[in-house]
Amino acid sequence: MQRKSICDPDLKIGILNGGGDCAGLNAVTRAVVKRAEEYGWEVIGIRHGWDGLLNVDTMKLTYKDVRNLINTGGTILKTSRTNPSKRPNGPETVLENVKKLGLDALIGVGGDDTLGVAAMLYKKGLKIVGVPKTMDNDLSSTDFTFGFDSAVEEATHEIDSLKTTGESHDRIMIAEVFGRHAGWVAAYSGIASGANLIILPEEPFDMDEVVSFIKKRHERGEKATMIVLAEGATLKNSKTFDQGKVDEFGHVRLGGIGEFLAGEIEKRTKYDIRVAVLAHQIRGGQPTAFDRVLSTRFGLAAVDLVKEGKFGMMVSLRGTMITSVSLEESTAKQRTVDPQLIAVTKQVSY
Ligand code: F6P
Repeated sequence: MQRKSICDPDLKIGILNGGGDCAGLNAVTRAVVKRAEEYGWEVIGIRHGWDGLLNVDTMKLTYKDVRNLINTGGTILKTSRTNPSKRPNGPETVLENVKKLGLDALIGVGGDDTLGVAAMLYKKGLKIVGVPKTMDNDLSSTDFTFGFDSAVEEATHEIDSLKTTGESHDRIMIAEVFGRHAGWVAAYSGIASGANLIILPEEPFDMDEVVSFIKKRHERGEKATMIVLAEGATLKNSKTFDQGKVDEFGHVRLGGIGEFLAGEIEKRTKYDIRVAVLAHQIRGGQPTAFDRVLSTRFGLAAVDLVKEGKFGMMVSLRGTMITSVSLEESTAKQRTVDPQLIAVTKQVSY
């Protein structure tokens, strides 16, 4: 078969979503299909993330299929946490099926796990471009990931309500918030909702300090306290709370720190306390305008990287500009909350 050059008009490209879903994924797909069709290319949706290239599961995408999806949550492509490196001949099977499907290039939309697989497959010859995605906002090589702003918006709305009912009952309310081991969602939603105390994974907490903080509030008549706590937060010199289950990328399923903290506070103060876990529901909502715009910009730019033959790269946001960075670099390290924002979370604690 005559090998097509990347600038041939009749290219066929694939797009897949991997890892946890979040708001904005469909807006990326919509932008990719729109831009690709402008170049006369065909777009094949790969369903269920990398699994869709192990057990071939695809869907043809045209603009009429996606044109009204910019404001929808979730992903029409479905996603998974499938790791080809953990399957017998996984990487080889993916490369073989890409060839069988006649895909000239692939766009992988995901977080550090999905893009780590993309970097590995690029080294094995796969023509792939990455788009950074996660509600956790913990990718080091982009200033923001889409999905984050939408998760913060949902979490802030829920914490506002928790604060209201806590005030009505003079209760301590704890919101345990998704975000894995970086506290971006907890920091932003805690600040935005006017939480009284924000606890992040970046700074393990001391039980005595938390209890004394709450007691001091009570002594000055502030009986209701709103605490926002990241799911990956830990007590000093202790490990994260998890459910003991691990996914194919080795991530433990976090959760439980909120109930633990509530139990400890209740034991030491006898104060009335309730816990809410803001988990999947804060990433399953509609994308905010910010995320719709960022997702659209990422999707358009990813197709242009394919057009320019810039594989092994990931689109990224630096300041207000879209640029690109190597997949290798993009998955090098996790981005945790910076000291300046940590300081803000303390300045607003009262
Ligand atoms: O990485 C995104 C995320 O939503 C994390 O915030 C959370 O800890 C994890 O995914 C939950 O994973 P799952 O969707 O597999 O339960």
